[in-house]
Amino acid sequence: MHKGNKIYEGKAKILYETDNKDLLIQYFKDDATAFNAAKKGTIHDKGVVNNKISTKMFALLESKGIPTHFVENLSEREMLVKRVAIVPLEVITRNKAAGSFCRNYGVQEGRVLAVPVQEFSYKCDALNDPLINDSHILALELATKEELETIKNMSTKINGIIRDFFAKLNLELIDFKLEFGRYKGKIILADEISPDTCRIWEVGTGRKLDKDRFRHDLGNVEEAYQEVLSRVTK
Ligand code: TMP
Repeated sequence: MHKGNKIYEGKAKILYETDNKDLLIQYFKDDATAFNAAKKGTIHDKGVVNNKISTKMFALLESKGIPTHFVENLSEREMLVKRVAIVPLEVITRNKAAGSFCRNYGVQEGRVLAVPVQEFSYKCDALNDPLINDSHILALELATKEELETIKNMSTKINGIIRDFFAKLNLELIDFKLEFGRYKGKIILADEISPDTCRIWEVGTGRKLDKDRFRHDLGNVEEAYQEVLSRVTK
């Protein structure tokens, strides 16, 4: 697959055109940021690990009937993906309280939530990705009512699939962030699924195996990412 022009560079990934107008190469970087890039660093081989974990997660979801942008793995840091128009929402699902949920609502980390929480942030770095609700999304025409329903239903299904998959690996899915895109008139899952975008705790010990180790300087960041990779690909 010919690698063409760079069309987008984000905090953790780069997208390149290919000779097929419907397909892009998604390249995973080692760069890590937190708190809207107030904290910056690199995590050695994160790009390799996140490409492999995302590949596994997209393949799993596709096998369960969830449409994703994933086409195939190309190299250690690259996957071929469908070219979508990203819906500018960060779609977050939470099974236990952590991160901004604890800060916003004054609850203790790890509190079991009576039902999974679905929340949306408006994907806009300049505004610091503000939390928004359904009526904001419709009023600002970020997604149609039908698209929003699809996004919610897919997120609920994805939560069940990944939670069950992780549970078998002695990992607990605390929360995660998804992004969706429009492709040929349909909503499909895009972006990545990795320890950058999920909170993952080891069952029993509660050991954090995700980007919180980087966010809060907990140490052993690379080891945590490698640990998730080794379990997920076992
Ligand atoms: P939060 O508790 O900081 O709002 O994060 C919720 C989940 O979303 C957590 O698994 C980390 C993930 N996340 C991202 O993937 N990108 C982001 O920019 C943020 C803020 C969170």
